[in-house]
Amino acid sequence: MKRILSGMQPTGNLHLGNYLGALKNWVSLQHQYESFFCMVDLHALTAHPNPAELRRNVIEGTAWYLAAGVDPSKSTLFIQSAVPAHTELMWILSCSTPLGWLNRMTQFKEKAGTKQEGANLGLYAYPVLMAADILLYKATHVPVGEDQKQHLELTREIAQSFNHRYKKDLFVVPEPLIFGSGTRVMGLKDGTKKMSKSDAAEGSRLNLLDDADTIMKKIRKATTDTAPFPGTIEETENRPEVRNLINIYSSLQGASPQEICHRFGGKNFSEFKQELAAVCVEVLSPIRERFLNLMKSPDHVEKILAEGAERANNLANSTLEEAKKAVGIG
Ligand code: TYM
Repeated sequence: MKRILSGMQPTGNLHLGNYLGALKNWVSLQHQYESFFCMVDLHALTAHPNPAELRRNVIEGTAWYLAAGVDPSKSTLFIQSAVPAHTELMWILSCSTPLGWLNRMTQFKEKAGTKQEGANLGLYAYPVLMAADILLYKATHVPVGEDQKQHLELTREIAQSFNHRYKKDLFVVPEPLIFGSGTRVMGLKDGTKKMSKSDAAEGSRLNLLDDADTIMKKIRKATTDTAPFPGTIEETENRPEVRNLINIYSSLQGASPQEICHRFGGKNFSEFKQELAAVCVEVLSPIRERFLNLMKSPDHVEKILAEGAERANNLANSTLEEAKKAVGIG
């Protein structure tokens, strides 16, 4: 049985990186895998969101999953905090996770910055909760963007060391599913920084909620350089912003980066940008429309989440029981 689990933080407006790095792949994978997708609200608590906003973001985030094409008759959608087994297993796993492994996590270093002493324990332990999310469902595969790769490697190590310590084949060691040129979408202003919700510059990202005019404006203002459009992809090696725009076009439209260079090579950037904006609008507009429609009846979204929580609890509780027995508390 092939099974996937993935999740997103309900931190507000989703962006093109979330779509290309994760959501788009979930939609196609749900036909080949038994699929579980969660809204990881417990992870979001590490940033102390406004409580009412967090609740709203969970519903909106789920509406984005649905609007992008996640089908609740094929996939299980649920809220992480609606399945208490996540936090319980996290504690059990924490007791088998050396601090040295967590000290390697680059995302913690980036988020805590120079103020590590003041960072909260939740932010530090964040990858152990993510491991619990995955291992509870015995997911064989985890579709994510490139930025989550290190957390997945840690999950694999935690699963292996637990199985070894307790001499049981209890947890499935999951494989990451990271594919396509959209696995690392960079910002539109600085091609060396990933597109992110936390970037203060609004023009650095395409939000899934942006309307056609906003998308066109942001693409028009996206940073490029003074050299003409490259004729081959190799020529973009030191042109991260250009490379990023080509990758975005490629992921949305299907042509390979090399084909795109052959087509636009030597031309003016404005011609390429116009086409890129048109492709973005073509793909994102229908998703936005569906989202806005879904948000007219949030009760429908709540119902899907309630049904999903029931299915998720059933599976998660059975793995938690096995883990509790293995360590001697079940
Ligand atoms: P989060 O909420 O930051 O991002 C959700 C998904 O979007 C992908 N992503 C990107 N992909 C390409 N380019 C980008 N610029 C970009 N920005 C975000 C992320 O890789 C991710 O797939 N820790 C996770 C959430 C999580 C999770 C899990 C994921 C919690 N438990 C279990 C998988 C399995 C996170 O913060 O993702």
